[in-house]
Amino acid sequence: MKLIISNLKMNMTLPEVIEYEQELSKVNSTNEIVVCPSYPFISYFKNNNYKVGSQNVSEVVEGSLTGEVSAKQLKSLNVKYTIVGHSERHKYLSETNEQVSKKVNILLKNDIIPVICIGEDTSLANNVETIEKELIEILDNVDNISNTIIAYEPVWAIGTGVIPDIDSIKRTIKYIKNLIINRYNAKVKVLYGGSVNPTNIDLLNEIEEIDGYLLGEASLDIKKFKEIVEKMEVI
Ligand code: 13P
Repeated sequence: MKLIISNLKMNMTLPEVIEYEQELSKVNSTNEIVVCPSYPFISYFKNNNYKVGSQNVSEVVEGSLTGEVSAKQLKSLNVKYTIVGHSERHKYLSETNEQVSKKVNILLKNDIIPVICIGEDTSLANNVETIEKELIEILDNVDNISNTIIAYEPVWAIGTGVIPDIDSIKRTIKYIKNLIINRYNAKVKVLYGGSVNPTNIDLLNEIEEIDGYLLGEASLDIKKFKEIVEKMEVI
């Protein structure tokens, strides 16, 4: 079973969320569908044919921290997955890998599966070196790596309509899986994210190492999202 995660980012208002949820609740799949709305809308998603995720969590357990949301609170809302370390948070909110590790550990303690985003920020860089550094900085401080999921999202592919060539995605995902086996003796699922859409999904589906997708823009349009889900049924 593959995982299809929709990261709605900071989009949609309540009426749009309600309409989106109505359509999403009609989507059937043999794969696991997860929707990650903004915090205020989490409880509008009901976990029936899909699961609910969040886009972030506090690195602190609980207490006086205005504006933050804890893993314990997310768990009480039936959140099953949480995206951590998205490149947009690194870039615009100066999130560090140390903070990401703390978030991962708190999520694991609360039985929420962390979806850890990693990826190089230029298509010209040696992506393997960047990815190895990022992975090690985050995972060396994580207690139970087998219960995490990695999302490989090349930063330059996010929201640009451009994806790396198929061989390169395949190579990088294999590299990530091997590194985690060799260094931590753990097996994890690795998702791909960055400009996945109904047009390139068939090509991406040819990469058997991909365990699912982290979708941004295409998942905002429920028709496109359904199309992607349907195209994943055939594999
Ligand atoms: P896009 O699909 O819009 O490129 O976004 C990907 C992403 O950032 C998912 O987390």
